[in-house]
Amino acid sequence: MFSTEFLDLPPLTGAGGSVQLPGSKSISNRVLLLAALSQGTTEVHDLLASDDTRVMLDALRQLGCTVDEAADGPVRITGLGGSAPRSPARLFMGNAGTAMRPLTAALALLGGEFELSGVPRMHERPIGDLVDALRQLGCQIDYLGNDGYPPLRIAHAAGLPVLELAEPIRVRGDVSSQFLTALLMALPLVAERDVVIEVVGELISRPYIHITLELLARFGIAVRHDDWQRFTIPAGSRYQSPGSIHVEADASSASYFIALGAIAANPEGEKGIRVLGVGLDSIQGDIRFVDAARAMGAHIEGGPNWLHIQRGAWPLKAIDLDCNHIPDAAMTLAVMALYAEGTTVLRNIASWRVKETDRLAAMAAELRKLGAQVEEGADYLCITPPASRADWRAARIHTYDDHRVAMCFSLAAFNPAGLPVRIEDPKCVAKTFPDYFETLFAVARADAAQVPVICIDGPTASGKGTVASAVARRLGYHFLDSGALYRVTALAAQRAGLAIEPASEAHIAALARKLPVRFEGGQIWLGSDDVSDAIRTEEAGMNASRVSALPTVRQALIALQHGFRRLPGLVADGRDMGTVIFPTAPLKVFLTASAECRAERRYKQLISKGISANIFDLRADLEARDARDQSRTVAPLKPAQDALLLESSALTETEAVAQVLDWWQERRPFG
Ligand code: DC
Repeated sequence: MFSTEFLDLPPLTGAGGSVQLPGSKSISNRVLLLAALSQGTTEVHDLLASDDTRVMLDALRQLGCTVDEAADGPVRITGLGGSAPRSPARLFMGNAGTAMRPLTAALALLGGEFELSGVPRMHERPIGDLVDALRQLGCQIDYLGNDGYPPLRIAHAAGLPVLELAEPIRVRGDVSSQFLTALLMALPLVAERDVVIEVVGELISRPYIHITLELLARFGIAVRHDDWQRFTIPAGSRYQSPGSIHVEADASSASYFIALGAIAANPEGEKGIRVLGVGLDSIQGDIRFVDAARAMGAHIEGGPNWLHIQRGAWPLKAIDLDCNHIPDAAMTLAVMALYAEGTTVLRNIASWRVKETDRLAAMAAELRKLGAQVEEGADYLCITPPASRADWRAARIHTYDDHRVAMCFSLAAFNPAGLPVRIEDPKCVAKTFPDYFETLFAVARADAAQVPVICIDGPTASGKGTVASAVARRLGYHFLDSGALYRVTALAAQRAGLAIEPASEAHIAALARKLPVRFEGGQIWLGSDDVSDAIRTEEAGMNASRVSALPTVRQALIALQHGFRRLPGLVADGRDMGTVIFPTAPLKVFLTASAECRAERRYKQLISKGISANIFDLRADLEARDARDQSRTVAPLKPAQDALLLESSALTETEAVAQVLDWWQERRPFG
């Protein structure tokens, strides 16, 4: 996951390959609650691991369910089965509407003392219609903040609520379908007689009710409905665990990759995007996004749990669509509209205003930043793409702590103007798709020359390694420690029994060309060996220095180093980064510090590791090494002509990093 302040997407040109998507949020949280209300243990396969499912799992544990989360395996939930939830309890629901609404209903009917709260945005998301329906039944619920909104308090200290179930329960269906879902999942707990729910007003987002009914059926509850207006839970309904249940991949998450396939040109030899885990017979309403994408020109084939998408009409075709049935995925259409000929109109999307953020306002504002013309109505959006290439703008996309805003705007990186796109607060995707950007980068293509590289070099002990890796972390970029490559090469040569001297040059180069090196987390692997420590010894440094003086070996490592230039960008540390390996890098920094200062830093470093040292000897060594490094014929230590000098003697590491990041910002087109 990218937990950086922002993530800059370089201009993207194509996409191809397969993606396995995470489980559906809507299905995951419903299944968790149904399992918790059932008798017996349910094994949930492919559960989504995200912020919203995390709050649900934590709440269920607090309420007394046994939750067993094995790494990589299914999650096992043992339900309450008829016993009362543990009370009193204070439950934190984050910004998960799919946890807040159904738990409120279930706990209100089961009785006990509970407080349900969330993040500030959750306290702005309406719940009044659900509370009204539950109060009609005789449940005791109080607002702790503003009327109609969480936080809430449920209190039946004096025992179970006495419920009035004889009359139909009336609930509004035109603000959020989650209110009806919440009642449908809670009322089977008390269905000693037929319980009837009547929807008042038009029912929005009907496909989500379809998911609810499908899953209720899997847990033994057969709800009847008359034209989606009147729902009957039959007398004697009892939750029964299906034993094992599989969560489909998220169809809303699939929308980004369906759009990707529709927008991106095919790379050589690859045909489009394959989405695995969800297909045409999905129970999720957002699968109907497929029809909308087809209408815009996408070429889509599919089976029961896969989809294959290719670019069809290009530019895309503008559409005028009632999006009530695909409220979440329709946000993706708004970004596809940037690539359409003419004006796209998305209608009947008023529910966007009460989601993670006011999505109507948010989408309009961010689309405009890119240069689109947008008309924002009370319940519709009209989007006209930038008139020409020159009308596109490099935008900083504000994401409003809304995962879908972040994900759908990543597709703006395919703009014909070749501009990068900045996504602020990229970690907000964790709500439903923590590895979204990694998944995107695995299938998206960019021109290598457009993938940014920052080169950082300098004399020994200048702190370049520390600064470079810190800059990489702050930007979410890959990090190339080229010195480590020479160290690993020397170690591999030694292990192969080769003497590190010019006579073995050809052999060492052959080895370097196929070096099985991997950088993972903080570790460096040579084949299946973790060599992180082995390459850091003094001896390994000496050997690296000798290996690095062999021109054929340097040549052999070039392709490997170029391979680090991957999406979304690279920070490369080492002496020939800016001169030989990435000569066109847009930012090159040469980090220096006085010999005195470097000797002092090295001294402190050694002492802190318990190694005794003499500061005068260290300084003499450094000066000798500088002289040797500067005068050597192969890759001598010298700044690239266009490198910026950063004299760091008087700077802390944080200050040096901040300076490099400032220079980088100046080179970005975001203003
Ligand atoms: O930065 P370091 O100490 O890990 O580097 C090990 C050796 O490799 C050092 O002698 C410098 C050399 N080197 C090089 O010649 N070219 C590079 N790009 C990086 C390091």
